[in-house]
Order: sequence, then C-alpha cells, then structure tokens
Amino acid sequence: DWNMSDYVERAIAKIRETVGDKKVILGLSGGVDSSVAAALIHKAIGNQLTCVFVDNGLLRKNERKSVEDLFKRNFKMRFITAKAAPLFLKKLKGVTDPERKRKIIGKTFVEVFDKTVKSIGQVDFLAQGTLYPDVIESVSIDGNPASLIKSHHNVGGLPKRMKLKLLEPLRELFKDEVRALGKELGLAHDVLWRHPFPGPGLGVRVVGEITKKRLDVLREADAILIEEMKSSGYYGKVWQSFAVFLPVKTVGVMGDERTYDNVIALRIVESLDAMTADWAHIPHELLAKISNRIINEVKGVNRVCLDISSKPPSTIEWE
Ligand code: XMP
Repeated sequence: DWNMSDYVERAIAKIRETVGDKKVILGLSGGVDSSVAAALIHKAIGNQLTCVFVDNGLLRKNERKSVEDLFKRNFKMRFITAKAAPLFLKKLKGVTDPERKRKIIGKTFVEVFDKTVKSIGQVDFLAQGTLYPDVIESVSIDGNPASLIKSHHNVGGLPKRMKLKLLEPLRELFKDEVRALGKELGLAHDVLWRHPFPGPGLGVRVVGEITKKRLDVLREADAILIEEMKSSGYYGKVWQSFAVFLPVKTVGVMGDERTYDNVIALRIVESLDAMTADWAHIPHELLAKISNRIINEVKGVNRVCLDISSKPPSTIEWE
C-alpha cells in the first residue's frame, strides 16, 4: 500500500544520491508543480538548492510577495528574485500579436533565467516540476499548441545550453499525487489548489498592446474577482477564473460626470483537462457583487462583461 511519508523518505534518499554535494537551481513560478518540487528538493538538500523567481511584470497582484514570503521567509530557502519587469515591458512595447507576445516573453524568460543562474557560480543540476503527464505528452501539455511555450519553459533549450543535468523528482507522479505530496511537505491548501496560470501571465490577458497602466488596472480587477471567488467558495469549484483587459473604451456615467473608460471581461470556466471547457454558471448575486466592486473600486474601468463562450470553439484564454 502506498504511504506518502514512505514515499517522501524514498524520494529524498534518491535526490541526495543523485545530487551528492553539487548545487541545484530551480525556476520557481509559484504554481503547484514547481512549488512542490522546491519543497521536496529543499527538504532533501537544503541550501544546495537555489530557487529563481522571475518577476516579468506580468504577474498578478501580490504574486511576487506571496511567493517570496512562502519560500524565502517561511521555508528559508536560498531564493533569488530576478527583477526583470522593465526589460519585459520594453521588449513587449507596441506588440499586439498574441504569438509574438508569447515568443518574446518565452525568449526573455530564458535570457533572464540564464543570466541569473550564471551569477550564482557553479551549478550542476536544473530542477523542474515535470509531472508524468508532461513526460508522456511531450508535444502539448493541455491540447494547446501555445502551451509548447510552457514545455519550452519547463524542458526547453536551457539545460543543454547551460550544460546542466536535469533533476525531475515528480516525473512519476500525477497531479493529485503531487498535491498529496505537497500536503505531506506542509504546503498550504491555497498553494496546492491554485488555478493554472499561463507562463506568459497577464501578457496574454491584456488584449492588444501591453502597458504598465493596463496591467495595473487588470491586476486590481483580477484581485477582486479572485477574492470574491474564494470567499464565496466558488474558486475551488471551477477550473479557472480570471479577468481580461479589453482595449476598448466605452461611455459611462459617474455622478454627474460622463466617463470614457475600459472594459473588463470575466472568464470563469469549468473543465477537466483544459481541452474542452464550459463557462461556469455562477450565481447572479455573486456576479453582481464582483461587477459592482470592480467598477466602483478600479479606476479606469466603467464596464464589466461576462464571457459566456465554451471551448471549443472559443479558447479559455482570450489570446
Ligand atoms: P486555451 O486558451 O488554449 O488554454 O483554451 C488552455 C489552457 O492552457 C493555458 N494556456 C497557457 N499556458 N502558456 C501556458 O503555460 C501559454 O501560452 C498558454 N496559453 C494558454 C490556459 O490558461 C488554459 O489553462
């Protein structure tokens, strides 16, 4: 019978044997897989592990702080934040095509990660939170050709170019087993049940050109949506829920003033594997609360729309 604490013991022994006295680097996104991989490897080899978190400026509200608080403060891991937001935004300036955005974000990520790793000195292993389904479906992780970028982030040219050996302690596990392992390692429910978040982040949720101002508006609206989804208990019932910034201005009234501001779309879907998805039938009262709060609290937004499209033919993301 399968016992999680025995599994942890064996996994730790294996990591120690593989790594010896060498150093390991891990690109931490804050997602379920990389978080569990980090906690496991840290338990095995402590300070021989360094985590690198790339702040690409396309993160959600408080995302960087919560990742830093958990891994740097709480777990006391060696942790480097690559503060690269201005670089990403500079490279994305004027770009509107979704696939070009993805390419630029992926390429810049590799550059920043590479440079950060070089600054650490001698490193022998690159750790990754690759799961069993990633191994067998090496072409596309979730049926989205765009997610090749994700696999690019995970297993792309990095190790070869940097002459690193791969350390993939979750390679034999499915998602539910990774969550059970994470729980055993003391990771919080919130971390283990986070919705999937694309590698290009808010870069593909600001439709059209990405600017700091648009990202800031989106971050505020998205944070309200997530907060309300969590406090109502609906967060755990859906596959993904997020806000999208639309580069459209519409007319509104605020007091005696006429406004001319942007539109936020709410994307809330149910799915089993992201290959197909249905828009989630959320209670109207909750939607009303989310809409009112976004319009009242987020400067620059005067209209909220609900996306009621299913996949296929619509995709989950808007870009
Ligand atoms: P779509 O929009 O194709 O998304 O229905 C299916 C799932 O994949 C995620 N997604 C991405 N993940 N890089 C990623 O790492 C990407 O470029 C990307 N595009 C979409 C999306 O959030 C959903 O879970």
